[in-house]
Amino acid sequence: MARSSRRMSSWPISYLSILLLLFFVSPAVMVKHHDFKRCDQSGFCKRNRALADSMTEKGSPESSPYQLDAASIKFKDGRLDGSIIKSLADGDAVKLPLTMTFLDRGNVRVTVDEEKRRKGEIELRHGSVARKERYDEAAAWALTGAGLQAQTTASMKKVSKDVTEVSWGPSGHFKAIIRHAPFGVELWSGEEKHVVFNGRGFLNVEHWRPKVEKPSVDENNTEAQPAEPTEDESTWWDESFGGNTDSKPKGPESVAMDITFPGYGHVYGLPEHTGPLSLKETRGGDGNYDQPYRMYNSDVFEYELDSPMTLYGSIPFMHAHRKSSTVGVFWLNAAETWVDIVKSKHDTNPLTLGLTGGVVDTHTHWISEGGLLDVFVMLGPTPEDVSKSYGELTGYTAMPASFAIAYHQCRWNYVSDEDVKDVDRKFDKFNIPYDVIWLDIEYTDDKKYFTWDPLNFPDPISMEKQLDETQRKLVVIIDPHIKNKDGYFVVDELKSKDLAVKNKDNNIFEGWCWPGSSHWIDAFNPAARAWWKSLFTFDRFKGTQSNVWLWNDMNEPSVFNGPEITMPRDNLHHGNWEHRDLHNINGMTFHNATYHALLERKKGEIRRPFVLTRSFYAGSQRSAAMWTGDNQASWEHLAASIPMILNQGVGGFPFAGADVGGFFGNPSKELQTRWYQAGAFYPFMRGHAHIDTRRREPYMLGEPYTGIMTQALRLRYSLLPAWYTAFHEAATDGHPIVRAQYFVHPSDERGFDIDDQMYLGSTGLLVKPVTVEGGESVDVYLSDDENYYDYFDYTTYAGGSRTHKIDAPLDKIPLLMQGGHIIPRKDRPRKSSGLMKWDPYTLVVVLDKHGEKAEGTLYVDDGETFDYQQGAYIHRQFSFEGGVLRSSDIGTKGAKTAGYLKAMKGVKIEKIIVVNAPAAWSSAGELAVSEDGFKGERKVEISYHAATGNKAAWAVVRSPGMGIGVDWSVKFPESASSAPKTEL
Ligand SMILES: *[C@@H]1O[C@H](CO)[C@@H](O)[C@H](O)[C@H]1NC(C)=O
Ligand SMILES: *[C@@H]1O[C@H](CO)[C@@H](O)[C@H](O)[C@H]1NC(C)=O
Repeated sequence: MARSSRRMSSWPISYLSILLLLFFVSPAVMVKHHDFKRCDQSGFCKRNRALADSMTEKGSPESSPYQLDAASIKFKDGRLDGSIIKSLADGDAVKLPLTMTFLDRGNVRVTVDEEKRRKGEIELRHGSVARKERYDEAAAWALTGAGLQAQTTASMKKVSKDVTEVSWGPSGHFKAIIRHAPFGVELWSGEEKHVVFNGRGFLNVEHWRPKVEKPSVDENNTEAQPAEPTEDESTWWDESFGGNTDSKPKGPESVAMDITFPGYGHVYGLPEHTGPLSLKETRGGDGNYDQPYRMYNSDVFEYELDSPMTLYGSIPFMHAHRKSSTVGVFWLNAAETWVDIVKSKHDTNPLTLGLTGGVVDTHTHWISEGGLLDVFVMLGPTPEDVSKSYGELTGYTAMPASFAIAYHQCRWNYVSDEDVKDVDRKFDKFNIPYDVIWLDIEYTDDKKYFTWDPLNFPDPISMEKQLDETQRKLVVIIDPHIKNKDGYFVVDELKSKDLAVKNKDNNIFEGWCWPGSSHWIDAFNPAARAWWKSLFTFDRFKGTQSNVWLWNDMNEPSVFNGPEITMPRDNLHHGNWEHRDLHNINGMTFHNATYHALLERKKGEIRRPFVLTRSFYAGSQRSAAMWTGDNQASWEHLAASIPMILNQGVGGFPFAGADVGGFFGNPSKELQTRWYQAGAFYPFMRGHAHIDTRRREPYMLGEPYTGIMTQALRLRYSLLPAWYTAFHEAATDGHPIVRAQYFVHPSDERGFDIDDQMYLGSTGLLVKPVTVEGGESVDVYLSDDENYYDYFDYTTYAGGSRTHKIDAPLDKIPLLMQGGHIIPRKDRPRKSSGLMKWDPYTLVVVLDKHGEKAEGTLYVDDGETFDYQQGAYIHRQFSFEGGVLRSSDIGTKGAKTAGYLKAMKGVKIEKIIVVNAPAAWSSAGELAVSEDGFKGERKVEISYHAATGNKAAWAVVRSPGMGIGVDWSVKFPESASSAPKTEL
């Protein structure tokens, strides 16, 4: 939750009343633009855009002053080393060490450093003790170390005196063509060029230089004055914004480069922004932005929609996509980063005079304040390939505890332990399932984390025990700002152990946040992380027990009185790195420290931690879930949440959700109801509300709303097996949990702009939430030539590039099942997901349009420990083919497999529903089941329901009783391919 009323209360009354007045005059809340920089208010962004403009004017990169020194090139074991020479106007030259590493799967990494800074041969101004090197530790935080092995079979050849070529991958399928002067790289896959570096000449590495004090105008000196400086140095040596001055002891040091995707019309990614999934152009023009996408993790109060402004988290990773090909770019830099995007259209054939529409190239320009130039390219060719490669590098989504993907109930604030118990009882009274209740900052004693408000929370343990009776959990908030108050043990230890972030003078940094004057833990410091861990043990964090988990907010970090509401860039972290160098990683080191602190709070009790974070970076998926911060209770925010969450999937951090109902403001009952229906398809589903809003727990609304929201929640709970399986795919292959149209249908160009419908994992479930007031229907686009069936009544919709209008009265979620899938569910209503653990499964077999085939998977484990890493899980492939439905094992056995299977022995399949069941089954009556561990076959009953109107035929097998963890097959009657074809 963002700063808000609390901050205002310290302002002068007159200011407050003006604000209140404004508030009543215009009810729409507005972001404070003046708090955050535009490109032209950020020295390095402005300088790099100006360079781009001048290069564009010249129309060719020839004047780019960067040249690869041919004599410096060394190539060994898949790695090229060399020096790029930057020639300066005065005839001097700067040496920039280059490495290119050729990796598996058509991935390549290119890094450029600066020799002088690396060797420490520079001087810092203002007596700064900061490190002199370009920041080179982003990789250590973001990468796991996997996927970095060079392909030793890569080979290099000199094509001409000015061009070097490296081929790698299977039979040299991938090629890097390296132009020496100016330095540039083309990346080819097969016969096609996919990615070009510095093709427009925007490469820029701002080298270190001493500050030359300009001679004061000397009226006595009649000799010629030095020429006017050719460059505008006004933002090189210090820079002010909003009354704060950045001392910039290292001078200018930005890195930037253009990256072009020839023939690619769409780029996706760069979370976190509020615009459409397919990223917009940023250099002005009709419907475009006039600002680059900015990444500088910030606490943006009342953020606006459809904007390239920065938000709380940053992932500098992008998919470029065109029909049947996807490539990825990962710009591994932790400093403030801006990305410009422009597209150009050209004809491949000059004779068509543009009549055929031509080809679109997408040009991107990446600009960072400092650090190494370190960039990965993944040549795909499918979105799955690119996501997998990126996941291999930065880590896959951590397998969550199973409760974490159920419903969370939050509000700022549940005011007392009695309040929490009361809400808990009411959920049960109204038969509404939920798993987790949350406490925002007010539970603490005076905003001192690790303490409880003694008046309102006198007995947290009894509250937690009540929750535990239904296997529910409690999440409490703990932020990185530590109240600066003598006698508060946490701040006393933070200071005495010297574990806080320092200011530019190397003294403890002090700023303002919720508790007032505060200090910030420096989670870059291993000693700070070890200390943090010690605070969470049950004997130290009194009032907590095993069912308490964590929420890390404000970790951008939010500093109410800091520049752009965050820390000064010249603050110092562990290792004397300046804050500017690692700003975007700061939030991740904090939530990761919390994750590690929660792994084992009591000796021997190791559980998968749950941590929610607001700030994030590439790699955050390994230890947290995220939410989209402080949204608003408006239809527009509901609609915007869908592309935002889809984009988290592109960015490899798919465990994402938006505050259901909207944080600021009071949603209408209709809006809140629609939001629960959409939220049931967020990977992370939490209802949350601002302190000034009315209570809005689902039972507060009354009928029909309460009932409809309860149905949405029951749908979520019934599909938890499918969700958990989708999380497992994210955890092993890096695929998004909810997927965008282009990801699922990468060769259908008509879907590349679609970002308001989502697929749940690879289950074939397609949802299109209603996001407009009074909406009574939605238009769903169906790409492939397959039938889709309404989830609830099996109405059939034909695919094949068709758009269908689907009725969606308030009580209906437009949810379809793509033919050819098998979806696992658990249909018994329970109070919490924990109570569903031993419940039987239902399998929904959605046959393809020929009524012949379907397949699906199911992943199950204990949902709380790490035993799955030793084989304690069930992973099944279900397939229907040739009239036989089969379950087969696709897991790998480990030490704990047998024990787990034994524990799960009693968990059975209680129902099979077959949608689009062939007419030949109508008279079947009985089916034969064979199951591992049982001799011979047994008979089960099938009942058949004929197609009516547009509704597909369906059949039900009740109580077939096969174990979920064993091989089995069910024989359906021969259908002689006489499947009914539903004509529409
Ligand atoms: C210029 O010369 C005058 C007279 O010699 C001297 O007083 C003054 O300090 C000089 N100014 C500068 C800027 O050197
Ligand atoms: C997470 O914490 C662990 C344990 O302290 C540490 O080894 C690792 O480097 C941290 N990673 C990140 C991304 O903060």
